[in-house]
Amino acid sequence: MFGSLISVLLASSALVASLPSGNVSLGDSSGFGALDERGLFGPISTGSAAGIAGGQVACGSPPLSSFFAGLEPPFPTNSWWAPYAAPPGTGTAAGPFPYQSALDGYGVLFGISVNRQFDGTSIKQPTQNDWRASFSEHSGTFANHKATAFDTQSVTVQYFQGSSSMTAYLVPGSPYMTFAYNAATPLLTSMNGGIKSFNGQALTDGGSATATGTQFTVVDTTGTTYLIYALSSITLTATSVSSTSGTVRGGATFTGVLRLVKLADPGHKALLDQHHQVYPTSVGLDYSFTDTTGTLIFNWQTVGDGSQLLMLTWPHHRLTMQNPNFPATTALGYLTTKGWMYPAIGNQWRMLHQLSSISWNAPRALDSSCSSSVLQGLAYEVGQLDPAQAPVPGDFYYWGGTLAAKARLALIADNLGRSDLVTPVVNYLKASFNHWFDSSASTVPAYETAWGGVVNKAGASNANVDFGNGYYNDHHFHYGYFLTVAAVIAKFDGAWLSQHRDYINWFARDIINPSTQDPYFPVTRCRDWFAGHSWASGIANGAGSRDQESSGEAVSGYYGALLWASVALSQDYVNYAKLLIATEQQASQVYWHLYPQKGQADRDNPYPEPAVRNLVTMGNVMDWQSGAWLFWGAQRSLIAAIQILPLIPVNEALYDTQWVENMWSYTMPELVDPTIGDEWKCLIIAAYSNAHPQVAAAWSANLTNWGTGNTYTNELYFIGTRPNPLGTPICASLPQNPYGTFKLQVAATGNYVAVASSANPNLVASPGISSSAASSFTSAYVPNAGTLQLASTGQYVTADQSGNYPLAGSRATASTWERFVIRRKVGAAEGVYTIKAASNGRYVTVASDGSLVNDGVEEAAGAGFRFVKV
Ligand SMILES: *[C@@H]1O[C@H](CO)[C@@H](O)[C@H](O)[C@H]1NC(C)=O
Ligand SMILES: *[C@@H]1O[C@H](CO)[C@@H](O)[C@H](O)[C@H]1NC(C)=O
Repeated sequence: MFGSLISVLLASSALVASLPSGNVSLGDSSGFGALDERGLFGPISTGSAAGIAGGQVACGSPPLSSFFAGLEPPFPTNSWWAPYAAPPGTGTAAGPFPYQSALDGYGVLFGISVNRQFDGTSIKQPTQNDWRASFSEHSGTFANHKATAFDTQSVTVQYFQGSSSMTAYLVPGSPYMTFAYNAATPLLTSMNGGIKSFNGQALTDGGSATATGTQFTVVDTTGTTYLIYALSSITLTATSVSSTSGTVRGGATFTGVLRLVKLADPGHKALLDQHHQVYPTSVGLDYSFTDTTGTLIFNWQTVGDGSQLLMLTWPHHRLTMQNPNFPATTALGYLTTKGWMYPAIGNQWRMLHQLSSISWNAPRALDSSCSSSVLQGLAYEVGQLDPAQAPVPGDFYYWGGTLAAKARLALIADNLGRSDLVTPVVNYLKASFNHWFDSSASTVPAYETAWGGVVNKAGASNANVDFGNGYYNDHHFHYGYFLTVAAVIAKFDGAWLSQHRDYINWFARDIINPSTQDPYFPVTRCRDWFAGHSWASGIANGAGSRDQESSGEAVSGYYGALLWASVALSQDYVNYAKLLIATEQQASQVYWHLYPQKGQADRDNPYPEPAVRNLVTMGNVMDWQSGAWLFWGAQRSLIAAIQILPLIPVNEALYDTQWVENMWSYTMPELVDPTIGDEWKCLIIAAYSNAHPQVAAAWSANLTNWGTGNTYTNELYFIGTRPNPLGTPICASLPQNPYGTFKLQVAATGNYVAVASSANPNLVASPGISSSAASSFTSAYVPNAGTLQLASTGQYVTADQSGNYPLAGSRATASTWERFVIRRKVGAAEGVYTIKAASNGRYVTVASDGSLVNDGVEEAAGAGFRFVKV
């Protein structure tokens, strides 16, 4: 949901034939080289999506053919360098960090943002260009550059003209920008002022200086210093063309490597001098697993002695890296939106993550104190599911979130030994899911051929459909839900699984394909392996600045994959999904959860500014800014809730105690505000239960609405299956409405309640109504509340949201406005209750004309009613 904006099939036989199919891997130097044998996973499948309901479509924003000349889809859509490939191909790319870059007709523009601001809501580091690397022979023709290789993190871009070329190895984490020239005359152009000095020689406007050697220092008129390392001797001439422009040119054609690095502090020069000769050309991913851990391994291919490779780390790397070789943080560092990048030496990083064993359900039994309430809610909520009324999908996102919440009911029923309640849920899910197999359905998945992926067909040329799914936005959010629903059906229906395994795999391959040997899907589409988390943004808007608002739904994406892998794939993919979950959760905790308790000088705190961390939760993490805001709301509880939802068992690891306690107090003013919806509050209460289940259970009894993505049953099941350090019953007392058939009597006056007349169903209490003339109401269970149905007409009592009108017995069916919370009135005699309308959280009062109106803000304002058994 809520991503920025922006899918795949099948390929013609021509496409298949042109793929380098036998020797691709994640981990080779070219992107298309020899198969890495250290345990990389093979593809889930290599089959086409030929049978998909929507057939084939092509994205309205296909990749630039000049950029991918000689390469074939599938292409990455959510990578940092997607702006090089997505039209117009000139967008600013979020990398290779610490640099930002863009491609123009002549070369690679790059720079490091130095302008970090906090505006009270967001940390911002606007991008800047410092230099452009090119060569004099290049004509500036935009088509004269292309990708020659890419992998899960890096891309190699070549500019070419005749027999001259410049190859840029764009590898995230490298402090140096690396350009390999071949028979080309280097031309470096200042993008950030004129040139003030070259190798210590001051330049005046129009002046120039020449030097020969392997190291150069150039300072622009803004004072920004870059070191230029040549890996073989070169003669360079710096010219300060004007106060705003300048160039550094080779004296002749050059075949060799130039490396440019921003010198942020003179103290950094020693380390940069020491390690400049080894450069990375690409990076391979590898993994290793035990029963409880997963190690994520980066292997850089280098030219030169790999053991001396100097790279930069982000906080999430440093927190997990095994046996690191970290120089002092004073030796090198750049402050980015993800905090300080600090150095590490060596061409292999091994990052260890604990893997949770949690999958379908909670890892411990439901607390017995919660059992009867959960079972009652379960029976009620399952009873609401009529397969004949199962939703016909109208979109991907809302359908997925809604059905995945229903799927949890089947898992909870199974966990609690109520197999009789499993089947009705599965039938309901199947009735709805089966529409995805129907080519005549109005909303269908299709295979998108330009980039390679499964999309909502209706969105292939319209980024406004389904949050931009057709432009590759939000695929992990959407397909995680699909996979959850499909996995639950498959768990209980092996025939359905056999019939639809390949079809469902298209959704799985779209988000967790681990292998370049899959000819139809890129590798882990949404995951940015260097950044440590996924991005919701695909290729809309030229693939400009990426974002991810819903870290919770990102985890859910890989949770859906875990469930699907558990039932339909091998243990390899179970492990892979677990590693994706663990890493996504870690990044959520490092970059979305904020900890006011952390020190400003803490090496691994991405937000040194205390005022940022006082905001407790990031709403949106982006490439060049992160802030406590959302595209769709600014409330504290909404910002927190979107990082919590959906409520799934595996998030026991995500809802850490320090964050939930911070969040609980930070959102408290909204938790007691009736204008904030229960569908958000229920998530905050559930996350809090991970640390304080008894408190959360008591608060959960206030809820009457769980939104479309959660249920009463799931809420209380989650709360009731938390770690319980106190050891006291979690659901000590969950109050309920009085249920049965009653007449209502105002306690203070003794007046009975009836409908005003047979023509007017408004409820009034007056001295003129005798006990026998009073209306009878059937009070029935709904979770945490109840309905009041007029015995005489069968109509339900309704209360609108304004609180300006009398309650009326005028609704044929009961929905949220027909729910009431009836509780013992505080301080009143036994048997006296208040009635709170779920529609607006206000208490029912008796107006001067006797009308019953839901307008009492405080409990004390609510009238006391006796419920007299009929
Ligand atoms: C890939 O395999 C093909 C056929 O086996 C071979 O011709 C080609 O050279 C290989 N490519 C690389 C980069 O190893
Ligand atoms: C909800 O429940 C808790 C605990 O039972 C209570 O203290 C709190 O005031 C309630 N909040 C609202 C808004 O009713």
